[in-house]
Amino acid sequence: MIHSRLYVGHLHCVLHAGVALGILLPQSVFHCGVLFEDSFYSPFKGQLELHEDVKIYIEENYEQINIPVPQFGGSDPADIIHDFQRGLTAYHDIALDKCYVIELNTTIVMPPRNLWELLANMKKGTYLPQTYIIQEEMIVTEHVNDMEQLGSFIYRLCSGKETYRLKRRTARRRINRREAGNCNHIHHFENTFVVETVICKKS
Ligand SMILES: *[C@@H]1O[C@H](CO)[C@@H](O)[C@H](O)[C@H]1NC(C)=O
Repeated sequence: MIHSRLYVGHLHCVLHAGVALGILLPQSVFHCGVLFEDSFYSPFKGQLELHEDVKIYIEENYEQINIPVPQFGGSDPADIIHDFQRGLTAYHDIALDKCYVIELNTTIVMPPRNLWELLANMKKGTYLPQTYIIQEEMIVTEHVNDMEQLGSFIYRLCSGKETYRLKRRTARRRINRREAGNCNHIHHFENTFVVETVICKKS
């Protein structure tokens, strides 16, 4: 299920590491912030700000996103890995200390080289005049026992943590109040828009 809500976004990034003596290193770290409006989270308060660190590993073909505790309520801090080699995404919800794994969605996640180019240009203060927030709902399915099948990058993130598979909820319907208590929200971006991933336990 996907809701798109219009918002006015302003994305800015600072490259912390990744270029030394004018040479592009295989790992880059961007610190990014996006200002957005979301009437659901902030009917009166106006703009919300979401920060994240984006580590891009071009050679190994993966991205790691670290989201500190958001300044707005109802959204969890998280570490996310998009592994393009394995075709998997892992969310480590830091508030729950649990890991969730799903197939990488290449429609919404930019590959490392493209993301690098997008973020490198954002440091100049590029304005995204009108873009949107995507909400996607995931349902927790089976427990993952064999962690090594997830590849070494996700293994490193999730090893020692309870890890579950997710499946995308496709039926277009509203989450009711009882179910909402079973759901955790993670806001993140790895493209020109913000994604709100809603992870729900089966009720
Ligand atoms: C990828 O994400 C888009 C937008 O949320 C969605 O429409 C599409 O079904 C997703 N694709 C897969 C394979 O999950």
